[in-house]
Amino acid sequence: MQHVRLLLVTAAAFAGLALPLASQAVDVEAALALQRQNNCNKCHHMEREKEGPSFRKIAEKYKGKPDAEAKLVSHLTSSPKVKLADGTEEEHKVIATRPAKDMAQVKNLVQYILEQTKK
Ligand code: HEC
Repeated sequence: MQHVRLLLVTAAAFAGLALPLASQAVDVEAALALQRQNNCNKCHHMEREKEGPSFRKIAEKYKGKPDAEAKLVSHLTSSPKVKLADGTEEEHKVIATRPAKDMAQVKNLVQYILEQTKK
């Protein structure tokens, strides 16, 4: 009997572990809100080119690349030099989160962008 109980406890523990993993799907609402708060839309549109490339184009560029998330998180947090559509250069906006430097929020937005490939 002791045996069965142990099994049940173990199974429950695993179920508890599996939950946070399964809920790692992109939170679209949060991604869009963060993008809005940061005014990313000033330069990025989902499909059209603006000052910066469309999120679809970015997603296509990084499709299948295992380091895509790390690259884009770094892009959004380290203000690299970028070239605007008119050829001028400036430092890319550093994303602001509340609370500050919340990498989970940045990663969620990055994953959202990476999902925007042509279906
Ligand atoms: C002032 C205009 C401007 C704003 C505001 C802006 N970006 Fe960009 N972004 C650019 C430009 C221009 C590039 C193109 C970089 C290149 O390819 O040289 C770029 C590139 C990117 C890339 C692709 C990087 C790569 O490695 O290909 C991502 C992702 C991105 N921006 C996300 C965002 C997000 C998210 C925000 C809001 C926090 C944002 N951008 C705000 C202009 C802007």
